[in-house]
Amino acid sequence: MRVSVIGCGHLGIPHAAAMAEIGHEVLGVDLDQAKIDRLNAGECPIYEGDLPELLSTHTATGRLRFTTSLEDAAEFADVHFLAVGTPIDADGRSYDTGQVFGAARALAPHLTCPTVIIGKSTVTVGTSRDLAALLARLSPAGENVEVVWNPEFLREGHAIDDTLRPDRIVVGVPSARAEDAVRQVYAPLLANGVPLFVTDPATAELIKGAANAYLGMKISFINGVADMCTAAGADVQQLTEAIGLDPVSAAAASTPAPATAAAASRRTSAPSPPLPAPSEPPKQQPFCEQPRRSTSPDPPPR
Ligand SMILES: NC(=O)c1ccc[n+]([C@@H]2O[C@H](COP(=O)([O-])OP(=O)(O)OC[C@H]3O[C@@H](n4cnc5c(N)ncnc54)[C@H](O)[C@@H]3O)[C@@H](O)[C@H]2O)c1
Repeated sequence: MRVSVIGCGHLGIPHAAAMAEIGHEVLGVDLDQAKIDRLNAGECPIYEGDLPELLSTHTATGRLRFTTSLEDAAEFADVHFLAVGTPIDADGRSYDTGQVFGAARALAPHLTCPTVIIGKSTVTVGTSRDLAALLARLSPAGENVEVVWNPEFLREGHAIDDTLRPDRIVVGVPSARAEDAVRQVYAPLLANGVPLFVTDPATAELIKGAANAYLGMKISFINGVADMCTAAGADVQQLTEAIGLDPVSAAAASTPAPATAAAASRRTSAPSPPLPAPSEPPKQQPFCEQPRRSTSPDPPPR
């Protein structure tokens, strides 16, 4: 298939390279001309293992190209991934979806044929509904432009592996036609046994938001427990290990921040196993990543 990836940041570049790797013809789009020039030269502007090799391989064959032109992207692709940034709003409570709507407004006038937009950015629930209404109003193709939401769960530093071998693919679809387009795009991954979790768009948006909130809640919880351990002279590592052995509570157990853990650990005859290295969070337990500890609240996960 011919796909575009709009927004070439930490999500978009690995996604574009991964889509080329599974056989699609890919056009990446960004506003930043200098970044586009580097990408077209096969240079990797971010740190991600395996990405430089994929970029140089697929830009050399021409299967992966980059541009600043949304008009070219509209002409080229059947499916457009939306991977622009959604920074946390000034109030710290919601996502700023300005780039999402800005990109859609700029793309819309060029959408003359039935098209599927696959949103990957992390957004507030209701965004895909509002985006579909905007695109129907501004595009020549009208309601034949459909919006799917496909939230991304990749971990920075593992983006290629997490894109090519994800634990699951979540997609919120408005119609059978849109679901079919998603199944075609991800066919090689689905053939490898990656589970596809199909929902309505609002549920998909909320799955990502709830996953982020759940992770933040767990980190806050275990940091609070670690503080109690420090005050009581208890061993927080043994505590989390013991909770983790209970299959019902396992999902609630996490690992406290290193400084807190060190303060809260006391020496025992059978020392606890070391904390997992931050660069290698356990793949099967995505909610047990090592939390960061600071005097200000942790920023929400992306
Ligand atoms: N970085 C991660 O690990 C990660 C993980 C999961 C989800 N996400 C989500 O993915 C989304 C993107 O994150 P990121 O870290 O890649 O952001 P980023 O800010 O690094 O990249 C966004 C890119 O979009 C480009 N852009 C903005 N408006 C554009 C437009 N109109 N046309 C073309 N390009 C445009 C920007 O120039 C920038 O290069 C966010 O919603 C984020 O929450 C990120």
